[in-house]
Amino acid sequence: MTLYHKPVLAEASIEGLNINPDGTYVDATFGGGGYARMILRKLSSGTLAAFDRDSDAAGNVPQDDRLVFFHHNYRFLKNFLDYKNLLPVDGIVADLGVSSHQFDKAERGFSFRFDGPLDLRMDFSKGITAAEVVNTYDEKALTHIFSFYGEIKNSRTLARCIINKRKEKKIESTFDFVEAVDEVVSKKSRNKYLAQVFQALRIEVNEELDSLKDFLQQTPEVLKKGGRLVVISYHSLEDRLVKNFMKTGNIEGKQIKDFYGNSQSPFKIITRKPVTASEEEISVNGRARSAKLRIAEKI
Ligand SMILES: C[S@@+](CC[C@H](N)C(=O)[O-])C[C@H]1O[C@@H](n2cnc3c(N)ncnc32)[C@H](O)[C@@H]1O
Repeated sequence: MTLYHKPVLAEASIEGLNINPDGTYVDATFGGGGYARMILRKLSSGTLAAFDRDSDAAGNVPQDDRLVFFHHNYRFLKNFLDYKNLLPVDGIVADLGVSSHQFDKAERGFSFRFDGPLDLRMDFSKGITAAEVVNTYDEKALTHIFSFYGEIKNSRTLARCIINKRKEKKIESTFDFVEAVDEVVSKKSRNKYLAQVFQALRIEVNEELDSLKDFLQQTPEVLKKGGRLVVISYHSLEDRLVKNFMKTGNIEGKQIKDFYGNSQSPFKIITRKPVTASEEEISVNGRARSAKLRIAEKI
């Protein structure tokens, strides 16, 4: 059996929650449940609420009365916690992005290395697929996605190429897509280029940045005073949002000061610089390479 997901920066992240054994915690991105099991080991009478929008993750939920699992997007954090009378909470951890399972299962279409339907939805019961994006979006919309979410330099050329190719043949699978864009893919850094293109499609299909913004905005209300917010991000678009939000308490990253010039942020920053994985961890878990861990405390 292949491992569902090997947790990244697990010790430092769970340490960052500063767990009170009788407290209430949230794992916003349950995945393979690696973090969740570590939290449960530190709880006695406490409670753990876990979210994951991917129904495959539900298969990893352990039988434990202290755990409440929501097969939902974490952007609805407050509503679901409120519904189960779990507010306010002592700590929240969000390990953003994709699980190894999602990447490695060809049928999910997350990887250009395997042939499968060009899907890329984390919750495959709702929303539009990447195939629908590449077969229906106009040039402007495609250019925007590749340029902003993938930071692709020739994003307009790529968008035009997709539009020309889809006239000849509908793009349905990951390999259809890779073949269709082959002429504009940088030959020197093919894998990096395709990884950025797939990342852009994934962010669009799953509304990742909007979900993250909605989630972050609810955290000051959901956390108790002294409660911890722990976030692990894997690319600069996410990390910038997290960093600015922790610093200022708003998505725009605008410093709001009171009459005396004191910052009005609801958080105290615990990690001045993001924590990154050691060479040792990276050598056994390549996904740790881009991870950045940030911790803040509600004041
Ligand atoms: C990197 S994995 C988490 C791994 C987890 N820490 C572990 O130890 O196994 C990210 C997980 O978050 C889920 N996810 C991503 N965005 C989400 C969202 N907006 N709402 C709920 N779950 C989300 C994905 O489906 C995936 O299973």
